[in-house]
Amino acid sequence: MSPISILLLPFFFFIISISAQSNNLTYPNCPSYDCGNVTVRYPFWNTDSESATQFCGYEGFGINCSDNGKQNIPKISFGGDSYYVQSIDYELETVFLVDYDVSPVATVRDSCPRVKHNINLGTLPFNFSMFSVNLSFHFDCDGCPSFATEIKCLEQNDKKVCLDVMNNGTVGSVWDAYSCDQEVVTTVIGEKMKLVPNLATGFGRVLEEGFELRWWGVDDCDGCEASDGRCGYRNATGFLCFCMDGTTSKGDCRGKLVTTLKFYF
Ligand SMILES: *[C@@H]1O[C@H](CO)[C@@H](O)[C@H](O)[C@H]1NC(C)=O
Ligand SMILES: *[C@@H]1O[C@H](CO)[C@@H](O)[C@H](O)[C@H]1NC(C)=O
Ligand SMILES: *[C@@H]1O[C@H](CO)[C@@H](O)[C@H](O)[C@H]1NC(C)=O
Ligand SMILES: *[C@@H]1O[C@H](CO)[C@@H](O)[C@H](O)[C@H]1NC(C)=O
Ligand SMILES: *[C@@H]1O[C@H](CO)[C@@H](O)[C@H](O)[C@H]1NC(C)=O
Ligand SMILES: *[C@@H]1O[C@H](CO)[C@@H](O)[C@H](O)[C@H]1NC(C)=O
Ligand SMILES: *[C@@H]1O[C@H](CO)[C@@H](O)[C@H](O)[C@H]1NC(C)=O
Repeated sequence: MSPISILLLPFFFFIISISAQSNNLTYPNCPSYDCGNVTVRYPFWNTDSESATQFCGYEGFGINCSDNGKQNIPKISFGGDSYYVQSIDYELETVFLVDYDVSPVATVRDSCPRVKHNINLGTLPFNFSMFSVNLSFHFDCDGCPSFATEIKCLEQNDKKVCLDVMNNGTVGSVWDAYSCDQEVVTTVIGEKMKLVPNLATGFGRVLEEGFELRWWGVDDCDGCEASDGRCGYRNATGFLCFCMDGTTSKGDCRGKLVTTLKFYF
């Protein structure tokens, strides 16, 4: 070999290993799977094949695929409640969820569903998208204020159910005068309210469209992902970085590239 090609050799291997890093080889520990119409992959993971003691993905991003008798339904749970995963956009890092109770795939599909709980994101790295509008339902009220919509199909006895769009009534605690027993706040996509001419009868249809969340990277995970690794967890070791070649690291996958280069130099 000529001296010049010996000089260039390390650069050749450098380029090889760089392109291997950016190619999509495999992450044997991070399988993707299809559930219903949704492809579940990193940073989401499958609660049926992985478990709370080992997963490749973000904590709390486990998706359970269960059969509702007709089809496979991807579900995610947080704050003690289940949500139907309608779709995931991995490029935009957004996910469309529907409160399972009021979803079109619920066991009992109801055109006048009663929301039972708030959406509690806890400490998950999720934010409501900018298209979100909050709907607050006030149950068992003595009456409804003029800015709210009365939901007759949910009413029992003489008590009223009132729907407040965008929490207009939270300012100045106007609700005190109506002695409501319970308030539940849920979130919808503002645009979808146009699907129904009348919110009083069509709110169920709007709830079925769900809401949109954005997710973002977990702090501890930056280094791992920046080195083309995928973050995960194993109960025996804690945080783990899963590398493309199937190995794991407690930090990131950068060590692998360095080793490769050292070897060739
Ligand atoms: C890597 O995998 C993702 C999803 O698995 C896919 O969207 C992307 O196109 C792949 N990239 C390459 C270079 O194959
Ligand atoms: C999948 O998509 C089809 C067509 O859009 C829809 O009818 C079906 O309910 C969807 N299934 C699930 C589980 O979302
Ligand atoms: C998935 O959901 C089903 C039905 O809700 C439940 O029976 C099952 O235990 C869940 N599986 C896991 C691994 O969470
Ligand atoms: C999420 O939303 C909160 C409040 O709207 C904001 O302070 C925070 O910066 C957002 N986080 C991200 C990562 O967008
Ligand atoms: C809607 O309610 C949630 C809490 O459920 C809150 O975090 C969010 O900021 C509210 N969004 C708007 C637009 O008021
Ligand atoms: C709530 O307040 C917003 C902003 O003031 C307003 O645009 C909207 O029409 C109000 N909604 C209702 C139902 O009154
Ligand atoms: C990890 O989980 C496995 C399976 O549940 C269990 O047997 C083991 O004791 C756990 N190890 C630790 C260190 O918690």
